[in-house]
Amino acid sequence: MSLPNTISVAAPAKVNLFLRVLGRRDDGYHDLESLIVPISLADRLEIHAHADPTAFRTLSFSLAVLGHPDLVRRVPADESNLVLRAALVMAERAEVRGFAEFRLEKRIPAAAGLGGGSSDAAAALHGLNDLWGQPLDPEQLGSVAAEVGSDVPALLLRAPAMIEGRGERVRPGPDLGVSLAVITFGFGVATAEAYRWWDEDAEATGPDPSPALEAMASGSPSLDGRLMFNDLEGPVTRRHPEIGRAKEALAEAGAIAVMCGSGPSVAGFLPDGLERLPSDVEAGLEAISGRPVVYARSWEE
Ligand code: C5P
Repeated sequence: MSLPNTISVAAPAKVNLFLRVLGRRDDGYHDLESLIVPISLADRLEIHAHADPTAFRTLSFSLAVLGHPDLVRRVPADESNLVLRAALVMAERAEVRGFAEFRLEKRIPAAAGLGGGSSDAAAALHGLNDLWGQPLDPEQLGSVAAEVGSDVPALLLRAPAMIEGRGERVRPGPDLGVSLAVITFGFGVATAEAYRWWDEDAEATGPDPSPALEAMASGSPSLDGRLMFNDLEGPVTRRHPEIGRAKEALAEAGAIAVMCGSGPSVAGFLPDGLERLPSDVEAGLEAISGRPVVYARSWEE
């Protein structure tokens, strides 16, 4: 039995199959092209909320963050948490009065390039829109998402998404079935830093993905090495060489490895028929990263 006005929403992590940085803009953001794929590693957000302008004169929020101490340590439980940012921006946009209580169970490491905070925010937007009586249409929800963070609009889709601009232009991407080993690390990388390093190193822009995407659209969607790169990987790996060592170990086991988002996590896409890495490779990776290897698949509702 669940409480009235309460729902539980899964918030999947994401990997970027490719991430192409086109250049720095005048506002400090970078124009991108990326294919974002949600995966089965997920946080869970429980929301108890109600809105009624006749019954409430104020707006109130609370947030509890639960999970392994290693994960929770880097997750703020105050207004800087993207769940509360999302709730606030949405309530202002929809002129809501009422309350929302959040209980966030973390499984996705923070500052890892896996979109955990952004996905939590996207889950909050979906859940609140339901519990608050659908005050926003999908377009308004997308614009609130973009205000909360660059990755949030794509994660609202809960399916593979092609993004452009700084992340606010989203269209459905190819429906890829991937199986992967995700390597996480004990340290985080701030997104702003990764982009700053790209500027500092005068890093190049990766290849135009259009030909490979068109080939994929005309056949059955399958992994294509031409579509698997990350322009932030060079600059971030130069400062954190463990990422390069993890990639090499994954490649030796036949996986195509790409850093996730602004890093440091690395996704090793497993070849068909390989469910797990050989145990010696797994042990080697755990020695490099100091964390257990996480196995995941494409997200399915
Ligand atoms: O949008 P979000 O708050 O997630 O971005 C965090 C930081 O990452 C930005 O302040 C910016 O420095 C950098 N960023 C960027 N270009 C993007 C997305 C993020 O430069 N497309």
